[in-house]
Amino acid sequence: MSEVFRSDLFAGKVAFLAGATSGINLAIAERFAQLGASVFVISRSAEKVAAAVNTLREAGAKANGVAADVRSFEAVAAAMDACVAEFGALDIVVSGAAGNFLARAADLSPNGFRTVIDIDLIGSFHVLKAGYERARKPGAAMLVISALQSFRAYPSQVHACAAKAGIDAMMKAMALEWGPEGVRVNSIAPGPIADTEGMARLAPDPGATERITRAIPLQRFGFKSDIAELAVFLCSEASANITGALVVSDGGSSLGVGR
Ligand code: NAP
Ligand code: COA
Repeated sequence: MSEVFRSDLFAGKVAFLAGATSGINLAIAERFAQLGASVFVISRSAEKVAAAVNTLREAGAKANGVAADVRSFEAVAAAMDACVAEFGALDIVVSGAAGNFLARAADLSPNGFRTVIDIDLIGSFHVLKAGYERARKPGAAMLVISALQSFRAYPSQVHACAAKAGIDAMMKAMALEWGPEGVRVNSIAPGPIADTEGMARLAPDPGATERITRAIPLQRFGFKSDIAELAVFLCSEASANITGALVVSDGGSSLGVGR
């Protein structure tokens, strides 16, 4: 665990995290809780929510969660109301729910394309809009989890490229509108992150993992903790002058031609 941040940095803060019952977003929830935040997590699976809440509580956190699909604005709003009733107004909102798979545009059905747009882009609109309505103002920080697909083209990723580019355009427009009220909105674009469902889907065999690693200037996949530490920075006072920013954490992999 990094010693960069004070251990009580988020004491008294309330964090709501969508899609935070596994992977990168659960790591963010765990880190926020370690720094003193009360955390509330949602995802579709009640079993995954219960397991994540258990993990957080076993580590000593004030934590809760409910099953909710980000494709339903009503479900997101109801989950946030439960969070506010238990812990208070939202200081931090993280929108990280996503779905992805490899499919060429020519083979992808309209419903397959729409499903990823619904979860990633429209789901993030739901989380940020409902979050804004329940956020502590001034001072709240919002974060969306984007991807390199937002600004680079990848084969078999037409759905994710469109969704993540949309997320970042939306993030900037919201930052513009909500800045005067002291609400910041930023996004993180992780590169390939080790031991995640995302990479299991996009690089399913060791050969692909090795090829991707060779093309990364830092010669390694990122860790979930790399993204969690960046999320702490972007949701803390340390980044008080940063809003509307897409911050990349990818070991340099989006710089261009790899080895
Ligand atoms: P993950 O473990 O599959 O995380 C996705 C989370 O979203 C899970 O908690 C999942 O739980 C939830 N979720 C999915 N659909 C949902 C819906 N409709 N409503 C509510 N929750 C939903 O994957 P990950 O690899 O850690 O990815 C996390 C984020 O990082 C994503 O935004 C992804 O695009 C981004 N990212 C990942 C990588 C990487 O290398 N892994 C790279 C760049 C960006 P349920 O199944 O219970 O719903
Ligand atoms: N290739 C092509 N199309 C696919 C596909 C694949 N691997 N997986 C799903 N689809 C299509 C389906 O065929 C369907 O389209 P159709 O009705 O025209 O046949 C459409 O996508 C919706 O599929 P469905 O399974 O009903 O969606 P869902 O809402 O239950 O699940 C997914 C959403 C597909 C994104 C699923 O993979 C998921 O839940 N992902 C969450 C975890 C994840 O992706 N983690 C990594 C984050 S980066």
